[in-house]
Amino acid sequence: MRRVFPLLASLIVALPAAAEAPAQMLSAYAAEAGRAQPGFAASAERGRQFYSEKRSAAEKMPSCATCHTDNPGAGGKHVITSKPIEALAPVAGSTRFTDTAKTEKWFRRNCKEVVGRECTAAEKADVLRFLLTKVGA
Ligand code: HEC
Repeated sequence: MRRVFPLLASLIVALPAAAEAPAQMLSAYAAEAGRAQPGFAASAERGRQFYSEKRSAAEKMPSCATCHTDNPGAGGKHVITSKPIEALAPVAGSTRFTDTAKTEKWFRRNCKEVVGRECTAAEKADVLRFLLTKVGA
């Protein structure tokens, strides 16, 4: 019991946090977008379009789906290194969108590569709204 208890305790603490954080991050992005665009409401449909849209900033990675696949509820593969990428959607047990620094780092890098600029708070909110529709997919 002495060895099992800390594990159980960490599971009990970790599960609700992991389930709530992506929704909290979405609220934060939506609030930030709302300051520039009063009345802003995140849209899963706009997020889906943004995620799948093919652009010409980088020839080998025209869209987010290039690495994260058409179904972000499933694992993907890096188009250049072929390294596996965990599902981008915050599916059960994943740590997606639970660490703002990590999420921001990758939004910055991936948006610059694919879109040719950083993503706006509105675009991040839309993408996250879309990804949350893929939870459990
Ligand atoms: C060239 C391949 C590639 C493309 C294209 C790509 N990504 Fe990623 N993305 C990655 C990798 C690699 C990671 C980090 C590895 C990991 O966490 O599994 C990542 C992680 C992320 C994360 C971090 C999520 C978190 O909290 O863990 C976000 C957000 C993200 N990508 C968004 C996007 C968006 C939006 C686009 C399109 C504009 C995009 N990505 C296009 C490869 C890519």
